Amino acid sequence: MKRVAVLSACFALSLVSCGEQVSEIRIGEYGSMTGSRATFGTSTHRGILMAVDEVNAVGGIEGVPLRLISEDDQGRPEEAATAVNKLISQDRVVCVLGEVASSASLAAAPIAQKAGVPLITPASTNERVTQTGDYIFRVCYIDPFQGQVMARFAANSLRLTRAAILRDLRNDYSIGLAEVFKSTFSSLGGEIASDQSYQEGDTDFRAFLTTILATEPQAIFVPGYYTEVGLIARQARDLGFTGPLLGGDGWASPSLIGIGGPALEGCYFGNHYATDDPSPLVQDFITRYRDQYRETPDSFAALGYDAARLLIHALKKIQREDAKTFEALQGSEDPDDETRAQAMARLRDAIAEVRDFPGVTGSISIDENRNAVKPIVVLQIKDADLRLVERIAP
Ligand code: PHE
Repeated sequence: MKRVAVLSACFALSLVSCGEQVSEIRIGEYGSMTGSRATFGTSTHRGILMAVDEVNAVGGIEGVPLRLISEDDQGRPEEAATAVNKLISQDRVVCVLGEVASSASLAAAPIAQKAGVPLITPASTNERVTQTGDYIFRVCYIDPFQGQVMARFAANSLRLTRAAILRDLRNDYSIGLAEVFKSTFSSLGGEIASDQSYQEGDTDFRAFLTTILATEPQAIFVPGYYTEVGLIARQARDLGFTGPLLGGDGWASPSLIGIGGPALEGCYFGNHYATDDPSPLVQDFITRYRDQYRETPDSFAALGYDAARLLIHALKKIQREDAKTFEALQGSEDPDDETRAQAMARLRDAIAEVRDFPGVTGSISIDENRNAVKPIVVLQIKDADLRLVERIAP
């Protein structure tokens, strides 16, 4: 575990105020800043940081600045648990943001739940993540919704009757999504011709694909992450498959098309947002993000931004309605355990009460299971770019 970006506001101020503690609200973030899924963590971090910077630029929340403390878990579930433990017990953060990968969130969420500290995952879509307990939230849709949408899209929009599945054996996200696709597609009268599994890190998928192609599917559903998806697409074309590959949000990375190239032309996947969405909210976000980071925000950045903004929205509500709790959430107070626990419970309630929040990834309402009810977009890869095909309301 490596600390990557600790804003040293506390340290700098403590020099002038001779050790006096500063009023601030500490927010924790953990993610894969390095390793094979580094774009997951670094893009999310940029989105979160942008939201935090925007608030601090106007004086924080009624004069109280936010401090973001970020931890790198290298994309490993065990490290994710260690990182969240440290953020909570050592840094005493009021809320934890992360992770992207469901397997990492599933490893870390029980720690936040046990400590009674709210955790908001920006991007983990596996249904079980928020079932960990009443302190665990998300701002993305869940896989039962995403899997149903993609199965309906295959059956109704593409009029397919025979599909195969190629899933990632040890990835909770991939397994969950594969199961929902399978049951929905079957319930719509479709047939699952073959269901094969690979393991993250595999680079040669030809044996699985040969088995799949022998069953003559019209499409292959690949609920994995983009690195493997890109390679699978290329090898499927090499073996002569001409139908579409279908997938979910795990495809969403600027690296996808770089890896898969022309092999991905005509393929479809479900995603959290579309950069060609004309809504001013989305376009303003893209412009400001480009100004700051010189690149177009991907879905991790957009979801990280929304997770942080939703938290800030809840904190502002507490500041307006409950001065005592707002004080207890500030680092300077160092409240006793009971006061702190009550403040955390109040913050949890404020997050749970969020409805119709205008996110850049769509309007977000938190439901009774602490999941975000929001639309999904289906994108098609066309001329090496992403094109919005359908937007489906929850
Ligand atoms: N939804 C994926 C998961 O839960 C993570 C992910 C989100 C991957 C967005 C890519 C883009 O594991």
